[in-house]
Amino acid sequence: MDPLFYIKTFGCQMNVHDSDTISQILINKGYKKTDSINDAHIILINTCAVRQKAEQKALTLIGRLASLKSKKPDIISGIIGCVAQEQGTSLLKRFPFIDLVLGPRNIYHIDDLLDQIKEGRGKASSLDLTCEPPTLPTCNGYVKGRVATFLKIMEGCDNFCTYCIVPFVRGRETSLPAEDIINKSKYLISQGIKEITLIGQNVNSYNTKNNALPTFPGLLKELDSIAGLKRLRFITSHPKDLSDELIGSFGELKSLCSHIHLPVQSGSDNILKLMNRKYTRDKYISLIERIKKTRPDITITSDLIVGFPGETEKDFEDSLQLIDKIEFDNLFSFKYSERPKTSALELPGKLDEKEKQRRLSILQEKQKKITLSKNKLMEGTIQEILVEGPGKKGDSQLTGRTSGNKVVNFFANKNLKGQLVRVKIIKGFQNSLLGELVDKYNQKVYEVM
Ligand code: 5AD
Ligand code: SF4
Repeated sequence: MDPLFYIKTFGCQMNVHDSDTISQILINKGYKKTDSINDAHIILINTCAVRQKAEQKALTLIGRLASLKSKKPDIISGIIGCVAQEQGTSLLKRFPFIDLVLGPRNIYHIDDLLDQIKEGRGKASSLDLTCEPPTLPTCNGYVKGRVATFLKIMEGCDNFCTYCIVPFVRGRETSLPAEDIINKSKYLISQGIKEITLIGQNVNSYNTKNNALPTFPGLLKELDSIAGLKRLRFITSHPKDLSDELIGSFGELKSLCSHIHLPVQSGSDNILKLMNRKYTRDKYISLIERIKKTRPDITITSDLIVGFPGETEKDFEDSLQLIDKIEFDNLFSFKYSERPKTSALELPGKLDEKEKQRRLSILQEKQKKITLSKNKLMEGTIQEILVEGPGKKGDSQLTGRTSGNKVVNFFANKNLKGQLVRVKIIKGFQNSLLGELVDKYNQKVYEVM
């Protein structure tokens, strides 16, 4: 029987992509993936360190592996990802039943390290922050059944926002070669993928550090010209590096979707400075105005932190006012969480948990109303939807997303998965839209032939 591996992923799209990469490497080596932790011969936990809560969740699951390992001592268990990098081999002492510790930049070594463990050569770790990311693996049939996927174009980060652990756990910014990204995109399309989301900590600065070509807008242009790619997206952009050329891409490229995720982090200039974000509130507002001018229908989403050290009531009010002014379609908001190695640890004016929670609740309440009213504004509009498959409710309901990345459920009597269809929005909810299929004359389609 082929050895079975189980992988649990915490954290962001980067980690989802890393888990996918690991899975493809292991499948190519003859392992099989299982969704059941109890059946697995190899258990891997891909961890996130961005906030203390995320880290704690992963550590709790790791703690639970002790009893599994005592029943089945032959299991190989590994901690991967950002917590593995941050805590290093100390994890092997803290959790003696763990065999492997692997940093996010070192995932490509997984098969050699598993061989080493299986051959009885003890525990293994790989935590080198300077490795260059190798060519992304291909694995025939791996994306079968998927319409959309992530594709990593850069690793690491050089920005050192004072709250952020990423530069310490993913190392310095490195761009993957454009040729590899283009080849991988063509391969994914040949495997049935219709939508690619390019991912990186700061995609806007793709190739700028090494003065190579293409830069990010050029890369988008090359990908846009690949036959069969219906939709192209990217995350995450840093406002300080959002060039006019990139904004212009939203008006020019046919596959580039009508959505930008542009983390603002705070609406107060004082706090932005303490965060080392290198832009002001006004600069951010003017960027949004320029993007909207180029693509008036664009969906704008953002990230925001409340309770950063030194955040006064006035600074918090500035954040509230900013979200009133911009009216983000969606906002991911977080309480500031102290992270090891980050320079914000040294800042005075720490807020207590209760105050951070109070601010977060006020902000989230406000944003909830804005999101709902934006979704309601879409009622009556016709949207192009890329169908991803059956909806959660079954009963011939299909689900997909608008170009602006909003989830739409609608009824159709045929499987339209992977197709772009026209849908009239009939109801806007908090987290999704309900629609009905229409033809090119905007008439409701009752039956799809
Ligand atoms: N505390 C709270 N939120 C954080 N983020 C990153 N680091 C922290 C931290 N220490 C948030 C930022 C970032 C998102 C991925 O997570 O908003 O954009
Ligand atoms: Fe992703 Fe950052 Fe979490 Fe690492 S720490 S998984 S890069 S969000």
